[in-house]
Amino acid sequence: MRFVPVVLVSIATLVSQALALSTTRDGSTPIRLLSRRNESHPIYKDASYCIDERVDDLLSRMTLEEKVGQLFQTMITPLPLDQEPSGVSALNSSGTMIGKKHMTHFNLLGDITNATETAQFMNRLQERALQTRLGIPITMSTDPRHAFTENAGTGFSSGVFSQWPETIGLAALRDPAMVRKFAEVAREEYLAVGFRMALHPQVDLSTEPRWARISGTWGENSTLTSDLIVEYIKGFQGKNGLGPQSVKTVVKHFPGSGPVQDGEDSHFVYGKNLTYPGRNFEEHLKPFKAAIAAGATGVMPAYSRPIGTKYEPVAFSFNKQIVTDLLRGELGFDGIVVTDWGLVTDTTFGGDPFPARAWGVEDLSELERVTRIIEAGCDQFGGEERPELILQLVQEGIVSEERLDVSVRRLLKEKFVLGLFENPFVDPEVAGRIVGNEYFVRLGREAQRRSYTLLSNEKDILPLRHITNGTKFYIEGFNATFMTERNYQVVDTPGAADYALLRYDAPYEPRPGAFESSFHAGSLEFNQTEKDRQSRIYSTVPTIVDMAMARPAVIPEIVDQANAVLANFGSDSRAFLDIVFGISAPEGRLPYDLPGSMVAVEAQMEDVPFDTRSPVFKFGHGLSYASPCGDGGRR
Ligand SMILES: *[C@@H]1O[C@H](CO)[C@@H](O)[C@H](O)[C@H]1NC(C)=O
Ligand SMILES: *[C@@H]1O[C@H](CO)[C@@H](O)[C@H](O)[C@H]1NC(C)=O
Ligand SMILES: *[C@@H]1O[C@H](CO)[C@@H](O)[C@H](O)[C@H]1NC(C)=O
Ligand SMILES: *[C@@H]1O[C@H](CO)[C@@H](O)[C@H](O)[C@H]1NC(C)=O
Ligand SMILES: *[C@@H]1O[C@H](CO)[C@@H](O)[C@H](O)[C@H]1NC(C)=O
Ligand SMILES: *[C@@H]1O[C@H](CO)[C@@H](O)[C@H](O)[C@H]1NC(C)=O
Ligand SMILES: *[C@@H]1O[C@H](CO)[C@@H](O)[C@H](O)[C@H]1NC(C)=O
Ligand SMILES: *[C@@H]1O[C@H](CO)[C@@H](O)[C@H](O)[C@H]1NC(C)=O
Repeated sequence: MRFVPVVLVSIATLVSQALALSTTRDGSTPIRLLSRRNESHPIYKDASYCIDERVDDLLSRMTLEEKVGQLFQTMITPLPLDQEPSGVSALNSSGTMIGKKHMTHFNLLGDITNATETAQFMNRLQERALQTRLGIPITMSTDPRHAFTENAGTGFSSGVFSQWPETIGLAALRDPAMVRKFAEVAREEYLAVGFRMALHPQVDLSTEPRWARISGTWGENSTLTSDLIVEYIKGFQGKNGLGPQSVKTVVKHFPGSGPVQDGEDSHFVYGKNLTYPGRNFEEHLKPFKAAIAAGATGVMPAYSRPIGTKYEPVAFSFNKQIVTDLLRGELGFDGIVVTDWGLVTDTTFGGDPFPARAWGVEDLSELERVTRIIEAGCDQFGGEERPELILQLVQEGIVSEERLDVSVRRLLKEKFVLGLFENPFVDPEVAGRIVGNEYFVRLGREAQRRSYTLLSNEKDILPLRHITNGTKFYIEGFNATFMTERNYQVVDTPGAADYALLRYDAPYEPRPGAFESSFHAGSLEFNQTEKDRQSRIYSTVPTIVDMAMARPAVIPEIVDQANAVLANFGSDSRAFLDIVFGISAPEGRLPYDLPGSMVAVEAQMEDVPFDTRSPVFKFGHGLSYASPCGDGGRR
């Protein structure tokens, strides 16, 4: 939108005012005369000017230090602004980062348990930012916070926000209108507390079933992923594209982080490689193309590095062929490229060493890493606060100020588009009312129930009917109070029960370490001891199993032995019992193939979808409840 007439008037007024000034005050030079500046009312603070003019004006006022501060975005916790956090890593206080390092982009760590207090914290940050020389407002971002995952590196459980299934559950529902609704609700809750940037969606294709981050994806089908993420991005933008009521999305991890070698995650040195034995690199670009066409203005390159492609085997943010030639050139992306967190500085996490994810360029110095990232075409360093490195590079003539201006311009422009200069503050009281309101919570719960996917249902045992006060249940994996609140009887042993209800997480191999242990990786099977233990239950009592499918579990023996198997993609115990007792019906369909054995998983090509041999169930499988009166009803 352009306001040409207003602008012309304003410029004319200002020029004549400046002329008048020059005759009355000290000896202003002709150059100062033409700068059209009114120091008490600068153009960049005047919403009647076009955004490009405001950006030009602001940029022309900035010192090198102030520009360099824009190029960093890192983590903060809701501590008093002058207190240094402990435990996270060597982070300065947010007050220091705003006041001394000139930073204006941050992501908030930790669960949100009181929206009013979070909104108050966000306002304190903005107040501090307004006290700086130029008063550039803060842009706050966040990893996902609307589901169940709790992992400082990937997302936070919902806390006071409405709670929905994981992204993979939205994919299981295959309902574009529901995805749009989710994004609109999340946008309103984010806006209420002051988040203006979503460090999501994760549009990687889940072509390697062992990867620990599949629950944040949309499964292994590139068409379905592309269709749904368009609704997601538009819902976060709101009605008229990116603007003052929007949350900006960052699409990740370019060019698709699904083909992880041996299924290992790229936060860790053993997971640094992506491999393409099926020569299927192009398919992983499809969702990014759809996102760019839908108006996505942020992209985050993957940590990993490509092995066996025409591209240099260095992590994608260091990779000019990927960021400049492919993303900006071939795909035409002209938005902001922000690196994934921590590519430069070695830190610690919870006391454990946490080396920089400089995969393929481990031998470079910090200064060389920064140079490579800038030369690759990235705009902003995620999870870093090292302006001194860039200042040194400019002083030494290795990086030019003009190059920095290109990125600073993009970053500032977005703040104007989001209306942050006009409205940096939120209303804490309104935040308390909007976040987690009854309606949003109800929609989230409905999505949890609907995304349930019924894998098997011997003799239509589900939904359980004709349950009386005398019916006895053996349960595992959830709290008995959820049964007793429905007046159901819980007993201590399978032998004493009429039915067993078991809720399990998809199998994984526990990893050591404060951070690493949050990633469920390795084998997708239960071990033999656990299989034997479960078998004894299945042979004793009719059993319903509910598997939280954060990854595609390899559970042929459970499908054989249990009377019914449900897959959930993030659900609470009440949603589970509503499905079991037929208060709601499962509508989900598998968003990926369910492999039949670990031998089959290991034989899969990391980059190729739907190549698991003899899956137990195929992508798209999902039964419906039979009608109680026996007139069919199966899909
Ligand atoms: C500068 O802008 C302020 C606020 O709009 C206005 O009151 C003032 O008259 C302007 N000063 C000059 C010299 O134009
Ligand atoms: C603050 O940041 C600098 C790097 O800019 C780092 O050297 C220092 O250790 C940080 N301070 C604290 C308390 O972590
Ligand atoms: C949230 O915080 C506000 C402000 O401190 C307080 O008044 C309110 O009672 C808190 N709400 C809850 C549910 O604890
Ligand atoms: C992928 O999803 C699309 C759209 O939902 C569907 O038409 C197609 O059949 C799916 N592909 C496979 C291999 O299942
Ligand atoms: C990654 O790929 C390289 C090159 O093929 C190989 O040498 C290395 O062992 C692989 N794995 C890791 C963890 O580096
Ligand atoms: C079960 O729920 C009750 C009531 O909410 C709670 O007091 C108890 O600690 C819970 N038990 C477990 C094992 O989580
Ligand atoms: C079922 O048992 C509960 C207590 O567990 C009791 O309050 C309720 O009245 C009983 N209902 C019937 C129909 O017997
Ligand atoms: C087998 O798996 C169970 C449950 O997943 C776990 O508690 C146990 O430690 C495992 N046993 C071995 C020997 O790995």
